[in-house]
Amino acid sequence: MDDREWYKPMSFYQIWVRSFADGNGDGIGDLYGVYDKLPYVKSLGVDGIWFSPIYPSPNADYGYDISDYKNIHPDFGDLEQFKKVLTRAHEMGLKVIMDLVVNHTSDEHPWFVESCKGKDNPYSDYYIWRDKPNNWDSLFEGEAWEYVPSRGQYYLHIFAKKQPDLNMDNPKVREEVKSIMRFWLDMGVDGFREDVINFISKREGLPNGLPFLPAAKGMSHYKDGPHIHEYMAEFRKVCEDYDCFQLGEGPMTTVKSAMKYLTGPTKSLDMMFSFDHMMADCMYTEYLHRPFSLVKLKKAFTKWQYALAGKGWNALYIENHDHPRIISRYGSEFFWRESGTMLAASYIFQQGTPFIYQGQEIGMTNIKLMSIDQYVDVSSITNYHTYHLKEDPERRLHRIHLSSRDSARTPMQWDTSENAGFSKVKPWFYVNPNYNKVNVAKEEEDKESILWFYRNCLALRKGSETLIYGDYTEYFPKDKNIFMYERSLGKESYLIICSFSRLPVRAHKPEKFKGHKGELVLCNYEGESKLLHKKGLLRPFETRVYRYNLE
Ligand code: GLC
Ligand code: CA
Repeated sequence: MDDREWYKPMSFYQIWVRSFADGNGDGIGDLYGVYDKLPYVKSLGVDGIWFSPIYPSPNADYGYDISDYKNIHPDFGDLEQFKKVLTRAHEMGLKVIMDLVVNHTSDEHPWFVESCKGKDNPYSDYYIWRDKPNNWDSLFEGEAWEYVPSRGQYYLHIFAKKQPDLNMDNPKVREEVKSIMRFWLDMGVDGFREDVINFISKREGLPNGLPFLPAAKGMSHYKDGPHIHEYMAEFRKVCEDYDCFQLGEGPMTTVKSAMKYLTGPTKSLDMMFSFDHMMADCMYTEYLHRPFSLVKLKKAFTKWQYALAGKGWNALYIENHDHPRIISRYGSEFFWRESGTMLAASYIFQQGTPFIYQGQEIGMTNIKLMSIDQYVDVSSITNYHTYHLKEDPERRLHRIHLSSRDSARTPMQWDTSENAGFSKVKPWFYVNPNYNKVNVAKEEEDKESILWFYRNCLALRKGSETLIYGDYTEYFPKDKNIFMYERSLGKESYLIICSFSRLPVRAHKPEKFKGHKGELVLCNYEGESKLLHKKGLLRPFETRVYRYNLE
């Protein structure tokens, strides 16, 4: 069982509760809505849920600014309701993992409120205070330092102003983290997704930094910082007392540095969310937007697959609450069903544990609001007012349409009733006007829908040792239109072929499979198009999965 840990065959569904389902009719998604929708989640064929933060928060960063780590946001319910969800999920065979956000707290967290008061109270060293700021940039709101008159000092915030960074060098802070972990593990949760966990250890003296990205001066001084592996080992130890797993979010992490978290004596995480493959069109689209490059995407996928093979384990995803919708990015809204299904096959069959973000499984797409004032995400708003200022406002708004995290945060589209069935009253945020076409109820009825394709993918993966544990091999890495990869175990092979083209394109069979007849086990087009296939042509965004017995 050693290399077949329980999380390996699993797949997860990510819930961003505020926009999932409103159970008590106030326009905000909550844990009552989640409870009611558990059968739907289960019906997808996933084995677990990751909850984005559901703790009390002033919502400067929609839950990622926490003001109480051991409670539930009143908008979402209370601890009793959470326990009900947890118990029901467990009864249904679903694991539950929580978001652990400990790089920073909210500025409204009592620790920070105390820390602001002066230099000699029990919380004064909980945060990172300096008399003079260095040159670091925050990732969300200008400079990384904010002055607090009552203390006469500046505090560090790598994210928004309302997200002061914790001082992880303080052993008391690390004890707090462990106590938070135990609190949830004792309640029965099955693990954590650890937010920007590779940022928690800052270089001593906080030296000035060179630009890392166009706007992240200082990052090299806190990414994979000097004490990171010591701190991670302490947290790992807590988890060893429980049957749980840890998944780290590693923004900007390289394969090389990820290996230290995932393998060998410093192993502290079971999986890591990497970002390379989310940059095939941009690096945080707002300021470095480029056309999508399939070759770049394949390179990123394959780099991680090869590096971790036999050593570590991948966390697979193409959407979450931080990225615009994948069909609008790497696919095509025109070939909505075709590209939405193809994109599923492009990552679910790789080696790793697949994550599906709410709405991804029905092919939700980006929302295009009329004015920047309608957006609520702090990073979108800052980006709009910071980059490309010379361009006309329409062009800048277009960039936000392409890149905003708010596109992932519009209410879940359940049916064609008012507010897409998300709520009986006006929802807290705009519903995508395409909900009449893109919704759960409609796709339930149609076996050719994106929804059913996701179910079929997950079922196929779950039923195959080869698709779970097999080796990964990529073919034709330079092909600009087709992504082709194989998963093989013993004599069995699966060949996954994905066209990213709007036009018919020719696919070649790799040498290895010549003379063998594969069984077509999954395809996103109904029926054979004889003419096209005789010529080895794939239809727009076609995906085909073949199984071979290479005896
Ligand atoms: C992570 C979260 C993101 C949040 C940031 C700061 O990247 O996924 O939503 O804004 O950390 O907590
Ligand atoms: Ca509600």
